[in-house]
Amino acid sequence: MTRRSCVIYATGIACAHLLMAGIAPVLAQVSQTTTHRGLKEITLTEKSQVFESWKNPPSPVYVEYYFFNVTNPEEILAGEKASVKQIGPYTYREYRPRENITFLENGTKVYAIEPKSYVFVPEKSVGDPEVDLVRTVNIPLVVVMNELNSYSFFLRSFVSMFTRKLGIELFMTCTVHEILWGFKDPILAKIHSMKPEVDEYFGLMRKKNGTREGEFVFYTGEKNYLDYGKIDTWNGLRQMSWWSSNQSNMINGTDGTLFHPLINRNELLYIFAADLCRSIHLAYVDDVKVKGIRAYRFVPPSDVLMSPTDNPNNAGFCVPAGDCLGTGVLKISVCRQGAPFVVSFPHFYQADPMYINAIDGLSPNREEHETYIDVQPTTGVPIRYCKRTQLNIILKRVQGFPQTKFINYTIFPIMFVNKAATIDDDAASKMRTLLALT
Ligand SMILES: *[C@@H]1O[C@H](CO)[C@@H](O)[C@H](O)[C@H]1NC(C)=O
Ligand SMILES: *[C@@H]1O[C@H](CO)[C@@H](O)[C@H](O)[C@H]1NC(C)=O
Ligand SMILES: *[C@@H]1O[C@H](CO)[C@@H](O)[C@H](O)[C@H]1NC(C)=O
Ligand SMILES: *[C@@H]1O[C@H](CO)[C@@H](O)[C@H](O)[C@H]1NC(C)=O
Ligand SMILES: *[C@@H]1O[C@H](CO)[C@@H](O)[C@H](O)[C@H]1NC(C)=O
Ligand SMILES: *[C@@H]1O[C@H](CO)[C@@H](O)[C@H](O)[C@H]1NC(C)=O
Ligand SMILES: *[C@@H]1O[C@H](CO)[C@@H](O)[C@H](O)[C@H]1NC(C)=O
Repeated sequence: MTRRSCVIYATGIACAHLLMAGIAPVLAQVSQTTTHRGLKEITLTEKSQVFESWKNPPSPVYVEYYFFNVTNPEEILAGEKASVKQIGPYTYREYRPRENITFLENGTKVYAIEPKSYVFVPEKSVGDPEVDLVRTVNIPLVVVMNELNSYSFFLRSFVSMFTRKLGIELFMTCTVHEILWGFKDPILAKIHSMKPEVDEYFGLMRKKNGTREGEFVFYTGEKNYLDYGKIDTWNGLRQMSWWSSNQSNMINGTDGTLFHPLINRNELLYIFAADLCRSIHLAYVDDVKVKGIRAYRFVPPSDVLMSPTDNPNNAGFCVPAGDCLGTGVLKISVCRQGAPFVVSFPHFYQADPMYINAIDGLSPNREEHETYIDVQPTTGVPIRYCKRTQLNIILKRVQGFPQTKFINYTIFPIMFVNKAATIDDDAASKMRTLLALT
């Protein structure tokens, strides 16, 4: 068979007419067990015409940032319930080319790095990130306090005195641009002057624009179509080591931008979510139609972030072993240099009500806060998705820091991200034509 295979990438499908001649008729008549020959056409190989669209995904991906603006900082310091108001979205278009592509092991695997860059999209945003202010937890201070927890009382008091002298408080106000892309922080600057390896700038997305991070080796699917796009190694790792069970440490599935062809409703789709530092799975919930294309909707079932009391499989995500949070939240300190960060779905969607009730101003709901991927089942192409995660920080009393004296232990929301894409009209029309033939 000549190599005229087509790679179908994420929301783009390039050489539809070749596909029509190639895999489509095959897929049309045969069952899963006998399609192997036809499926050879869906692989990540260099000569395929769609290789370009795998390298440079054409359909736009938008990343929307929402922040939780704190409305009652004094009351929180006095021990009262926190109140927040959501602001956003501030939207950036994400560019994620694949570079340094190298084929390995006779073309059964492919190496790539995925430098991402972000360009602000004013017409999809509520305001100007360089102007709009957000009041939130002073993240550098909380991280430093948390780090100092294991040091002597004397050192803690010293740092505490110093923060008071500079007038540094538990809540800070800065622009959206600063909190995302970085600002010079007085505490970090002070530490930097003593320990130069500590960065004096802080930003949630600092150094994430254009950096060449994330090295992947994927299976091309040449050997087995079920392996198409599956991650073999991530940053050189075949599995992680920070979680407390082998099962939790597994790097499962694809990166979520593509899936193997011939998806069925009963299977679980596995995704390695680097920003959550773990793999998750999604299960079928519904049939949907996107721009006239039939698709299966997959969502993370509620057991993914369930507490180990209710789902013992999740015990491995408690680090150290046995130190568990409740349903709907995942502590990711292990992969954030010990910083007390916690991820969840936005507004603590599907989390234990105690997390939701601890903060005024949250209203979790499916439409706005659920993560989903709509996958065209024949080709495995995701034609629409919304991937949503919230970043929280643990606020609690720290001995030696009087400003935390009345603070109740709270998983405090900072921001959430909605990464969304939909197949573009051109690719959708090609796919409709292709599928009409099957
Ligand atoms: C904080 O904790 C104290 C003592 O446990 C409790 O009385 C108070 O209601 C809590 N405040 C909030 C806002 O949960
Ligand atoms: C990727 O390739 C560029 C040049 O093409 C090189 O400078 C860079 O070091 C490579 N990066 C990695 C991680 O291999
Ligand atoms: C690559 O292919 C050659 C020839 O078909 C074979 O001898 C060799 O073992 C293969 N190598 C790997 C890593 O599969
Ligand atoms: C990211 O880098 C690109 C190109 O270098 C630039 O155009 C863009 O404005 C940067 N984004 C931010 C948020 O700084
Ligand atoms: C967030 O809250 C601060 C403090 O109240 C306020 O100055 C700012 O305008 C608010 N931000 C937005 C975007 O409403
Ligand atoms: C993980 O697997 C290795 C061998 O594959 C075994 O030695 C180790 O004890 C396992 N660890 C846990 C926590 O189960
Ligand atoms: C990885 O996949 C295996 C099944 O192949 C499953 O048992 C395990 O729980 C998965 N791990 C995660 C973290 O999803």
